[in-house]
Amino acid sequence: MVVVANRLPVDQVTEPDGTTRYQRSPGGLVTALEPFVAGRGGAWVGWSGAAGDAPEPFESGGMHLVPVPLSEEEVDRYYEGFSNASLWPLYHDVVEKPEYHRTWWDTYVQVNKRFADRAAEVAAEGAIVWVHDYQLQLVPAMLRQRRPDLTIGFFLHIPFPPYELFTQLPWRSAIIEGLLGADLIGFQQPAGATNFVNLARRLHDLPTKGSTVSYDGRTVTAKAFPISIDVTAFDELASSPEVLARAAEIREELGQPEKIVLGVDRLDYTKGIAVRLEAFQELLEDGVIEAPATTFVQVATPSRERVEHYVTMRETIEQQVGHINGLYGSIAGSAVRYFNQSMPREELAAMYRAADVMLVTPYRDGMNLVAKEYVAARGDLGGVLVLSEFAGAAAELKQALLVNPHDIDGVKKQLVRALRMDPAEGAKRMRAMRRHVAKHDLDHWASSFFESLQAQV
Ligand code: ADP
Ligand code: F6P
Repeated sequence: MVVVANRLPVDQVTEPDGTTRYQRSPGGLVTALEPFVAGRGGAWVGWSGAAGDAPEPFESGGMHLVPVPLSEEEVDRYYEGFSNASLWPLYHDVVEKPEYHRTWWDTYVQVNKRFADRAAEVAAEGAIVWVHDYQLQLVPAMLRQRRPDLTIGFFLHIPFPPYELFTQLPWRSAIIEGLLGADLIGFQQPAGATNFVNLARRLHDLPTKGSTVSYDGRTVTAKAFPISIDVTAFDELASSPEVLARAAEIREELGQPEKIVLGVDRLDYTKGIAVRLEAFQELLEDGVIEAPATTFVQVATPSRERVEHYVTMRETIEQQVGHINGLYGSIAGSAVRYFNQSMPREELAAMYRAADVMLVTPYRDGMNLVAKEYVAARGDLGGVLVLSEFAGAAAELKQALLVNPHDIDGVKKQLVRALRMDPAEGAKRMRAMRRHVAKHDLDHWASSFFESLQAQV
């Protein structure tokens, strides 16, 4: 099997002294795919995260990694431009306004060709190639043209928009044709699959039946496969003596607050970080909670730092944190502890274990694996999850306290409810969610995708 994704599971980082090292890449795609590929062996074609020449292929954690080079200009136009300033906002309900530039599109086509070429070189006769995410939507058709012997699967990790939004895209037809190169197209939610089939019918006049599209003498299936995490591994990590000791230490270092509220995200405008801060601030203003008796910890991994919307969002959030701490912090401690850092998984697991309330409030999110990690980490049945209705995870984690992130009063109400929840009710909710994720884990996701793919060809 060959996996093709924009990023490799590790990023090349250059130290100030010019030496290079590799670190785990950010984001949900790597969290989910890395244990799967490492467990069964296989090649992974992707970008190393640094502009310039690509390193030679190398072995890492049981995987054969095949780096694809991107020049500075390609990073600018294909990655930051078309992928993250056109497609990303368009596919997330236009939370921010997408920009469309022809030079960005031309570079997206050029880079997709390079990924298809590299995958075509690496894949053995009759191999399965699994292409991932919005950065590489043209690869399935390009690859089929080069290698008709391959079985091609595609999985979209983010939402897929309805006809009314998707058709804004000047290159909408090319994207649909690119995806139709796959035998099976996986989406996070049934709505994404339905949107795709509708677009194939309405834009391209193609015959469709249920979840299938007839195209070029083939049948292409579009179905939902909600992604998950390696639940057992995360559960074990979070209940290890080291992580439990660290969780106790975190509470201690925070000054033993009565309640810890936690947010963990890539620093992305779709994640609704400002909404949480606003709800927290208003509850302090209203005198419903006090700081630092209730402390809010927000961990935000740096992400796409040169894209304009990300620059302005970071400034807004950092101002908001400063404002809240200026008003409500004291010598005894800050109201909000904000970290613009990537943290080791052990540290995140300890934070999940220490947190009384987990706030996950995206305006739109394909799945949100942080929510599933929190549930997997709470083997003690402690903690309450507050979750946006607009995260894919809400369709599965039904016992979370659901919120509409556009409704500040509603978020405040659910946050207070979470802070005051009777432990027996919290445990009942957590037990039900843990039962669900234990069944619907990473293996379940990958094996159902592969069974469908094999049934297709
Ligand atoms: P996305 O794919 O949009 O980033 P997800 O919630 O699906 O969102 O996945 C995010 C992944 O990144 C999770 O596995 C989470 O643990 C990880 N992550 C988030 N914040 C950090 C951080 N500060 N340090 C390290 N990993 C992080
Ligand atoms: O799942 C969404 C996603 O965009 C992945 O494709 C990606 O790996 C992750 O978030 C992190 O984003 P980036 O690769 O742009 O840092």
